[in-house]
Amino acid sequence: MSEFALEVENLVKIYSARGKQPVRAVDGMSFHVPCGIIFGLLGPNGAGKSTLLRVLTTLTRPTQGTAKILGYDVVKKSIEVRKRISSVIQETAVELFLSVRDNLLTYARFQGLDKATATRRADALIADFQLGAEVDRKVQDLSGGFRRRVQVAKVFMVETPVLFLDEFSTGMDPLLKRQVMNLLRAEVEKGRTIILTTQVLSEAEELCDDILIINKGKQIARGDLNTLKLLSHGVYEVTLTFDQLPETIQTEIAALAPIRFTIEANTIDLALKTEEGRVMEIVSALTHGRRVLRVEVRGASLEDIFVELTTQQAKETA
Ligand SMILES: Nc1ncnc2c1ncn2[C@@H]1O[C@H](COP(=O)(O)OP(=O)(O)O)[C@@H](O)[C@H]1O
Ligand SMILES: [Mg+2]
Repeated sequence: MSEFALEVENLVKIYSARGKQPVRAVDGMSFHVPCGIIFGLLGPNGAGKSTLLRVLTTLTRPTQGTAKILGYDVVKKSIEVRKRISSVIQETAVELFLSVRDNLLTYARFQGLDKATATRRADALIADFQLGAEVDRKVQDLSGGFRRRVQVAKVFMVETPVLFLDEFSTGMDPLLKRQVMNLLRAEVEKGRTIILTTQVLSEAEELCDDILIINKGKQIARGDLNTLKLLSHGVYEVTLTFDQLPETIQTEIAALAPIRFTIEANTIDLALKTEEGRVMEIVSALTHGRRVLRVEVRGASLEDIFVELTTQQAKETA
């Protein structure tokens, strides 16, 4: 068996339709993912996350390049690949006319599980995903959030070594999301590899051992959270709460060319790229002669890094 869950080499996926500009949804990606981790593909809407997942799960053929799952090529060995993966993609089917329980059982039987095991797992998952009250209802009568739960619960019915999740938390409330995150962690501890996409920075930050930031079909940064933070050292977050918001504050801040800034009531929040010594000068200039209720300076968050890296890329390609 390959030591890598995933090997991607020069992968390109171009969508071309007659009369339309071709879209380079995946535009030359190369990366490897070792087994036994949670790997996060982080990027804004339209970055190419779903397309990449569709190629990796054999639903779409790449235009160029190769991808291998556990050493098996997604085009040449697609059947071997399918035996080893399960996935929740955005259009994952749930059988609308079946009940929640029958969705889980049917999927498990389809995947070759015996009845006793399937029933046992389904019961456990119904509890884990808090589907107890809905268990006999048809999926078509459930809200989007509940349907999503059924989709995600399904992939836990089987024990394929590699799991793909495309924006799994869409429509989940924070409590359930936390529980699912714990379940994902537990699966990885058992040795599975999880490859997930997200636009939610805090999710990537909390859940992923290794993160690849993508934008416009291209890789822009790779590493664990600490590595990503180092990439963007010199980025600081400043929060200031004034007794009264100074009239000229907007212009003063704009002059600093912040990466990001917001004003809400009497509080300003900004992220700046600057030298360490300068940040305190800036803060004291902004607060000089003013009544300030709160001053906070922090190192970069993943959000700052993300904004900085994507704008760098935009400048380079402009
Ligand atoms: N079937 C398709 N045909 C044409 N363009 C597509 C198709 N699917 C996605 N795209 C385009 O490819 C780009 C990447 O989309 P997608 O992979 O869905 O990104 P993400 O999942 O990160 O939001 C976008 O510009 C999107 O409009
Ligand atoms: Mg998507």
